Amino acid sequence: MERRTVEQTTGCGLGGRAAVSPNIAIIGCGNRGADVYAALLPEYGSRVGWLVEANPVRLAEVAGRHGLGPQQCFAHWDEFFALGRVADAVVIATPDGQHVEPCVRALALGYDVLLEKPVCLNEAELDVLLRAEASSGGQVSVCHVLRATPFFRAVREVLDSGVLGQLIGIQHAENVAFWHYAHSYVRGNWRQSPPAAPFLLAKSCHDLDLLRWFVGARPQRIASEGGLRYFRPEHAPAGAAARCVECPLSDCPYDARRIYSAFAPDQWPTSVVTAGGVALDTALREGPYGECVYLGNNNVVDHQAVTATFQNGVTAQLTVSAFTHNNTRTLKLLGSHGELRGHMERGELELYDFRTGQAEVWTVATPGDRHGGGDTGLVIAWLRFLRREAEVPTPLTESLDSHRMAFVAERARLSGTVELLG
Ligand SMILES: NC(=O)c1ccc[n+]([C@@H]2O[C@H](COP(=O)([O-])OP(=O)(O)OC[C@H]3O[C@@H](n4cnc5c(N)ncnc54)[C@H](O)[C@@H]3O)[C@@H](O)[C@H]2O)c1
Repeated sequence: MERRTVEQTTGCGLGGRAAVSPNIAIIGCGNRGADVYAALLPEYGSRVGWLVEANPVRLAEVAGRHGLGPQQCFAHWDEFFALGRVADAVVIATPDGQHVEPCVRALALGYDVLLEKPVCLNEAELDVLLRAEASSGGQVSVCHVLRATPFFRAVREVLDSGVLGQLIGIQHAENVAFWHYAHSYVRGNWRQSPPAAPFLLAKSCHDLDLLRWFVGARPQRIASEGGLRYFRPEHAPAGAAARCVECPLSDCPYDARRIYSAFAPDQWPTSVVTAGGVALDTALREGPYGECVYLGNNNVVDHQAVTATFQNGVTAQLTVSAFTHNNTRTLKLLGSHGELRGHMERGELELYDFRTGQAEVWTVATPGDRHGGGDTGLVIAWLRFLRREAEVPTPLTESLDSHRMAFVAERARLSGTVELLG
């Protein structure tokens, strides 16, 4: 068996800092807007010229980082859009339910938009976005960061090489990690749907997008099972307190003190808990991130499985679960002439060729943060598009299939039926 290590680039051909420096407006300056996009965009040759953020403390803090004055900072997008077209492009990184309106407004002014996923929370809004883009000079790119990772670009290269023969099926798992699930989906922003997107849409639309990208055909039939099995009051151990800081139990894997002290104060997810300069102890005493995982207000599923059949006959299974050790993706591409196995966190790929009986194992250098290099890859690709050096990284029309699959899968899960896509 051959073993090797490869440095896979982002595939976006950065080629050094560009001369043209697009002036970008960021709407929603939270973790994604400020800590990812506003941090990365200047690194790769653009300027952050305008900020829109509803939280005044956060707005002032982020404005300070970028040296922006009050004329360039707004509490609501109404005030920013009232200026007309003043920037080169817009990033929209507001919470899930607040993507459609600013996107439509930005498109009406002809802006190119980098739009966070999920792009919308219901199927009717997919058409609203498509129509707005069709009548605009601007184009939307959806933040499907996995497509931009060195790891999944390497998977795609194996598929494109033809070595697997005909693609017959895909087995893909999104392993959320127990602590990440507790942070985001029991205690955090995505614990209740509505207002947040259903779990599959919020957590796995990147994975559904990957399936669609690998299969190369539109989805046709979807079945799904799953539910909120564990993070419920009946599973609270005897004596559990409403907050971890008051809880007498010492062996709870979901103890917020243990989870957040495992990370540096400025490292995600602890940085989310202490955003705005709140002390960790205060946040755990008073805020949602210190609540007992069994006694909270969460209602989203903690495990879900989806089976999809595509128009070219390929079938794919996606399993997404809270109950995993690692926060990673694992997959198998099952072909007529070979099998490819992948483990994203380790950057490991194993290719078995049925004709030769040979196996090859190699490692793709995969950064441990920023979505395995996907955030950086996406920013680079989008800036290349803004400079008209490349196509839009993930077009809205393609991304919408992943969203349709998520909406249909959620209906199938709730109704216990198999759903057809139109
Ligand atoms: N692409 C990815 O991999 C990825 C990863 C995580 C989150 N997301 C998505 O990115 C979006 C933002 O997530 P986040 O983690 O940054 O959340 P966040 O809560 O950290 O940030 C959202 C920010 O928007 C601000 N805001 C709320 N309403 C606003 C309004 N009307 N106008 C201006 N600002 C407003 C909030 O005050 C907050 O600062 C979500 O839709 C989320 O699902 C995408």
